[in-house]
Amino acid sequence: MSKQAAALIALQIKRKPDSVLGLATGDTPLLMYQELVRIYQKGELDFSKVKTFNLDEYLGLEKEDPQSYFYYMKEQLFRHINIQPENINIPNGMAQDRNLECSSYEAKIKETGGIDLQVLGIGVNGHIGFNEPDKNFEALTHVVSLDEKTIISNARFFESMKEVPTKAISMGIKTIFHAKKVVLLANGETKAKAVAKMVRGKIIPKVPASILQLHKDVTIVVDQEAGQLLQKNEIHR
Ligand code: F6R
Repeated sequence: MSKQAAALIALQIKRKPDSVLGLATGDTPLLMYQELVRIYQKGELDFSKVKTFNLDEYLGLEKEDPQSYFYYMKEQLFRHINIQPENINIPNGMAQDRNLECSSYEAKIKETGGIDLQVLGIGVNGHIGFNEPDKNFEALTHVVSLDEKTIISNARFFESMKEVPTKAISMGIKTIFHAKKVVLLANGETKAKAVAKMVRGKIIPKVPASILQLHKDVTIVVDQEAGQLLQKNEIHR
């Protein structure tokens, strides 16, 4: 899964060296980032003109906080490759004016000409970015209150439940949808239901990832466990 996904990203950068990538954090893309670093270290990939926009960041965590997505990206990818620091974009979770931070982030993505390839993971509840199941699809970059399932799932990275952030800044569904290509990764049995609903279920804001059924260029890369319910060819409502 990770090699396939890394190969898609590498191909994107080779075809368009100044690609704008949308990036995800979490467990799922860890080995994909390792693979990209490996390809870079072999001298086969140049990130010098690549720009990146991360999907999301927790509110209230400093960049240096080991639990922040800024720190994650630095450790997993950026410090190992030749990306220019000024080409890295991650929402600022410490911004004084959060709404301004959201609109500036959105404007900056537009300025670069938009995201060429967006990497996504999927939550057990079907979220993409931190677009949680809701009554509506939230369009643009916004402040989100994290879903209980997401908070519980994220708790594994923190020492106590009290420390787990409950809010984040996340790209919206429209922001993600505007990406020219989307590559969504999922692994493990816990993601099987969400994957099946995303691919074969109704397009509803209760399963935010289901909106991807309408996108013109999506590649879903799964391992056997995450894809197990797809093989049965059932409709998932
Ligand atoms: C991360 C993100 C989330 C994760 C999702 C899956 O930037 O936006 O949507 O992709 O929660 O997380 P993992 O990979 O940890 O299972």
